[in-house]
Amino acid sequence: MKKFFVIGHPVAHSLSPVIHQAFAAQFDMQISYETRDFEPGNFIDCMARLRREENPVGVNVTVPFKEDAFAYCDEVTDRARAARAVNTILFDGTRAIGDNTDGVGFVRDVIGRCGVPLQGARVLVCGAGGAARGVVAALKPLGCAKIAVANRTHEKAVQLGVGLGVEAVTYVDTAREGWEVIINATSASLSNEAPAIPNVTFKNAALAYDLMYARQPTPFMRLAAESGAARVEDGLGMLVEQAAEAFRIWLGVGPETAPVLARLR
Ligand code: ATR
Repeated sequence: MKKFFVIGHPVAHSLSPVIHQAFAAQFDMQISYETRDFEPGNFIDCMARLRREENPVGVNVTVPFKEDAFAYCDEVTDRARAARAVNTILFDGTRAIGDNTDGVGFVRDVIGRCGVPLQGARVLVCGAGGAARGVVAALKPLGCAKIAVANRTHEKAVQLGVGLGVEAVTYVDTAREGWEVIINATSASLSNEAPAIPNVTFKNAALAYDLMYARQPTPFMRLAAESGAARVEDGLGMLVEQAAEAFRIWLGVGPETAPVLARLR
């Protein structure tokens, strides 16, 4: 049986096994998909052992190992290089080929499911880590009217902006402009906080989207809703879409995402 894993720390509560088994069932495929908790700081040894013992076809990589996975791979796709992060690895013989499906997952969820156009939109990305880089890289070719990035540590937003060719703004200055789409690509939700985005920044927002998902709306989602964003979404749809793209990379077939998302909700 073809074996797959999602690697993270912690990772026990990952939804990826359920999602990928639901995809496999659509094609009457039998696959094995398990979680693997790697000890931080020991990615290369842990991966060598996993490959030796389990011979996986592919793995997903989640927090906090996406940068380690990028450094580990023998070959990476352009979108992984832009994000400097890998969330999907395909093993081709002895070679590890790294990709990043997060950005395309985000874009498909926003355009396809939410029905919010990104072409011509003014888009604000909050955060300047790997998640923000992946989203900005995926937005770049779509013809947005403007892409700007804001971050608690402004210098990091400036660096990301220079690297990917987008504008950096402070959170305070986001209030001066109107934004159709506002994305939370920070990890603030993990500490039950929202980034310091002024209320008025959300005034014209058609969509406020948190890349994180949770049973309850995140602090960012509550802030956006209270501040007048027309629509507020968490990242569960993106999670399913990035998984579908990984499934296609590994197995060559594209699963349907809507029924899987409906089941998770
Ligand atoms: P990831 O790979 O998920 O992007 P990361 O590279 O650690 O994770 O980046 C985390 C991002 O969330 C950073 O932009 C961080 O801001 P700083 O650069 O100022 O650290 C942001 N972040 C984390 N906690 C935050 C909080 N409570 N408020 C605002 N931003 C926060």
